[in-house]
Amino acid sequence: MTATFETVTPSPETEEVEKKTALKIGIPKEVFGGENRVAATPDTAQRLQKLGFEVWIEAKAGTAAGFLDSAYEQAGCHLVSDPQALWTTADIILKVRAPQVHPELEVHEAQWLSEGKTLISFIWPAQNPELLEKLAAQKVTVLAMDAVPRISRAQKMDALSAMANLAGYRAVIEAANQFGRFFTGQITAAGKVPPAKVLIIGAGVAGLAAIGTAKGLGAIVRAFDTRLVVKEQVESLGGEFLELEFAEDGSGEGGYAKTMSAEFIRAEMALFAEQAKEVDIIITTALIPGKKAPTLITREMVESMHPSSVVVDLAAEQGGNCEVTKPNEIYQYQGVNIIGLTDLPSRMATQASQLYGTNLWHLLKDMGGAESFQVDFEDEVVRGALVLHQGEITWPPPKPSVPSPPPVAPKTESVVTAAAPEEKAGVNLGPWLWPALAVLALVGIGVGAPPSFLSHFTVFVLACFVGWQVIWNVKPALHTPLMSVTNAISGIIILGGMLQISGPLQSPTTLLGAIAILVGTINISGGFLVTQRMLKMFRK
Ligand code: NAI
Repeated sequence: MTATFETVTPSPETEEVEKKTALKIGIPKEVFGGENRVAATPDTAQRLQKLGFEVWIEAKAGTAAGFLDSAYEQAGCHLVSDPQALWTTADIILKVRAPQVHPELEVHEAQWLSEGKTLISFIWPAQNPELLEKLAAQKVTVLAMDAVPRISRAQKMDALSAMANLAGYRAVIEAANQFGRFFTGQITAAGKVPPAKVLIIGAGVAGLAAIGTAKGLGAIVRAFDTRLVVKEQVESLGGEFLELEFAEDGSGEGGYAKTMSAEFIRAEMALFAEQAKEVDIIITTALIPGKKAPTLITREMVESMHPSSVVVDLAAEQGGNCEVTKPNEIYQYQGVNIIGLTDLPSRMATQASQLYGTNLWHLLKDMGGAESFQVDFEDEVVRGALVLHQGEITWPPPKPSVPSPPPVAPKTESVVTAAAPEEKAGVNLGPWLWPALAVLALVGIGVGAPPSFLSHFTVFVLACFVGWQVIWNVKPALHTPLMSVTNAISGIIILGGMLQISGPLQSPTTLLGAIAILVGTINISGGFLVTQRMLKMFRK
């Protein structure tokens, strides 16, 4: 059942009450040509309602992503057939693409927004200053999902990463679609098939997803990135990290890359020229935020590739990493398939909408849900994404203050000699007090305690010391093997316990022995259970 919003203007009082009881979220149908995604799926819409919002959705908004109107209705959403009514009545508009001129109604969507409303969508403020001005004139608040900072706390709201992950996966699938061979090597009755060789340039979110996917299909995967920190990640996905003998690292601010020197780019291009002759598929994802994508694969390199090879240029929209890429096109250049698609996440609209909808849900939850919805300037994530606040342009956000490094004390002799008289003035006993007390206590026990107690006590103290040394120096990554060691120790404890329980039932020795067996058994079986679970995580 579809409904249109009532045309009768409610009294300001009713409006106020309505606002207090339920903030309305509006989900319009995307109007950008070929865009299949939608900003809420029935699942995320239901979760938004649990945050206290009412969800109103334009009819057929989710159809291209595989979500029927009936599913939204079942999820408790209200359907609206008129886009203008939806935009003008909702308090918060959730969208995928930035507002644009509605192709059928020929009105700019931004004009349907009015004072006090909030819009959350991709905006790309640096590339769209005119849109920003247009939205500012409407006195609205706008959060750009593309401006969510890449910090740990914001990972669940990081729509760019969510989409890049899908794009990396899809890039491999699109390449496979053009490539006339298996990815995996095979020995068949008809002959031996070598595995495909894939080179991935740029091991950011999209690149890593591409490495994992290509490896999963059985290809030999090589990867290159200017940031050396990604080497381990590439290798953990089964890829080979190509390195240059060049003392320059591309790690820049906030986990993104920085522009490299001309010599570095020359050296990496020489590497790619060599690789182009060898590999079957090149997937490029190299980008520095806010800059034109660097050209890394030249016309000559493409010409040197085997016919029927594939180049997928994920950076096509930002100018392309490959010289012969045509944005939004798949075509053959001298027998090599060049893929310049810029809508890869939209080609996986069901998954993309679910992930994007979840990103939005997290952001709205972070902003207080419907109960206490607010734009908190102190919230690093909200401030980062906020491009307009009640019509005022708040973009770019202030740079997060980086704590200044602690001052390094100059290692000069004069400093040492200057500090010496002060130290003499008051001797600091703090660090010595506890060890001294411990030594005194030990001497006291040694003098006063009976010899039988003393031998047990010596073993106990040594066990504490060795145990402490063993556990304290273990890295968290080795905690699982450590558990095996504790299992072995538990085994010894059980053995000791068994030797003690042969006496009378009520004796404390038997009881303690029984308890030791019980606790040791729990530790061993628990250890095995946890180890099994962890191993399962690595099994396919
Ligand atoms: P990212 O910033 O996580 O990764 C880019 C990587 O490129 C970084 O690891 C960086 O160190 C590396 N890089 C920069 N300069 C390089 C150079 N000269 N040589 C080698 N590596 C270099 O970016 P993300 O999120 O992985 O996105 C990758 C690309 O995919 C971007 O261009 C993005 O716009 C695009 N994209 C394309 C989509 C499509 O449908 N075609 C969809 C989503 C993203």
